[in-house]
Amino acid sequence: MPEPHVFLTRPLSERVMRGARESLPAELRVHAGIDGPPSRESLLEGSRGASGIITMLTEKIDEEVLEAAGPQLRVVANVAVGFDNIDVEAAGRRGVIVTNTPGVLDEATADLTLALILSIARRVVEADRFVRTGRPWIWGPQSFVGLDLSAGATLGIVGLGRIGMATARRAHAFGMKLLATGRRATSQEAVRLGVEAVNLEQLLARSDAVSLHCPLTRETRHLIGAQELATMRKGSYLINTARGPLVDEESLADALESGHLAGAGLDVHEYEPQVNERLRRMEQVVVLPHIGSAGAATRDAMGTMAVKNVAEVLLGRPPLTAVAL
Ligand code: DGY
Repeated sequence: MPEPHVFLTRPLSERVMRGARESLPAELRVHAGIDGPPSRESLLEGSRGASGIITMLTEKIDEEVLEAAGPQLRVVANVAVGFDNIDVEAAGRRGVIVTNTPGVLDEATADLTLALILSIARRVVEADRFVRTGRPWIWGPQSFVGLDLSAGATLGIVGLGRIGMATARRAHAFGMKLLATGRRATSQEAVRLGVEAVNLEQLLARSDAVSLHCPLTRETRHLIGAQELATMRKGSYLINTARGPLVDEESLADALESGHLAGAGLDVHEYEPQVNERLRRMEQVVVLPHIGSAGAATRDAMGTMAVKNVAEVLLGRPPLTAVAL
């Protein structure tokens, strides 16, 4: 009988790796490449015979991977809160537990959301790019004028969950008015922050900036398409730090090109890691390489949580954070 092992699809920080080696009740096998995810072949090969898989959001854990792993597989732990890369139903059919990392990345992701809102509303990246051209400049009353967040600007939060709420707290501190859809839009904290619970159509029609915070599911794919973009206010902004396919990017590029939208801040992309060529070329768009959770302490907390989830399941105990369908 071979020794049980856990397959980790990408090396994590030294701290997390040390913790994993100390706490996992199984041998830890790590995909060696540090530059990128394992190829499909390496993923299938590494998963073969594993009792647990610790995976990143870049790996597609589907029926084929679960089949390749074999019947001894007990847990798949995603190092991410979103788990649209995992076929949870297929895992459930095989009795494999799926876990994610909720909670620990809320603040980091909300920080980055505010960074994007500020970047596009106050044209920070555009102005930085301008200075770097070396062209002569002098302070001007109409240079790089953008939106004042604190002068009654309204932020619409689509999917007010944990990350949305952390974003709401920050936006409130900046003096923004808040609209929201989602399960916590009528919670005590939302009321305290002055959040008005509305439906998506109202939110789009009344917001100066719309920020997406909902999971990617069959129902939310292209939640923001041509019609929704047309409903948004002229001169408003779209921010996405959730999942790229929530937005139909070609329609977004149309809305920006026509001037209907004033800008967009995108940390995530419809066909990640590809970035839409039209969006990439636009001055009024800030594009980032999916770094919402990329704070050192946050990434450690995510890795540690994934390791703990696997350890608990392999020790015969319930995981800390199993995903619910
Ligand atoms: C997540 O956890 O889902 C994030 O997208 C990772 O940065």
